[in-house]
Amino acid sequence: MKPVPFVGHPVHAFISKRWSPRAFADKAIEKETILSLFEAARWAASAMNEQPWRFVYAQKKDAPRHAQLFACLTDRNKTWAGSAPLLVLTVVKTTMENGDPNRWALYDLGLAMGNFTLQATLPLQLRERELELQEREPLEALLL
Ligand SMILES: Cc1cc2nc3c(=O)[nH]c(=O)nc-3n(C[C@H](O)[C@H](O)[C@H](O)COP(=O)(O)O)c2cc1C
Repeated sequence: MKPVPFVGHPVHAFISKRWSPRAFADKAIEKETILSLFEAARWAASAMNEQPWRFVYAQKKDAPRHAQLFACLTDRNKTWAGSAPLLVLTVVKTTMENGDPNRWALYDLGLAMGNFTLQATLPLQLRERELELQEREPLEALLL
């Protein structure tokens, strides 16, 4: 159920309207809408402009790719996440273009996902929820 937000001090509706659901409408998301989410992520700041984020996504209708992503989830998340119309796996490149370790890569991924979430929340009226992964093996097939 949608929570009633407590807003201690005024914040933009982009922020106060975000929440993490565990139930989803059985409705496919338009390709253009999905691309807008990734475009928002792409606009994030990143150390040395390395843009170390990578995304693998599957719509519910994209078998077997969806099944491969779903297989990576923890058992607890599997109990409800299968109804989400879109699963997105985030991956981060931990080395810079010059081969040095990128100590800021996870920070940058967080910024990108912040943009992704904000784009989903108000302009597109979508909701997303971060999920832990359990299985790494099916991931390797997705990333090849
Ligand atoms: C990095 C990260 C990992 C998370 N992992 C899970 C998860 O595995 N399963 C889940 O149901 N929620 C997960 N969440 C969602 C949080 O539980 C949720 O954001 C938190 O309870 C606050 O609720 P709200 O997002 O509605 O404000 C995760 C959130 C983040 C940022």
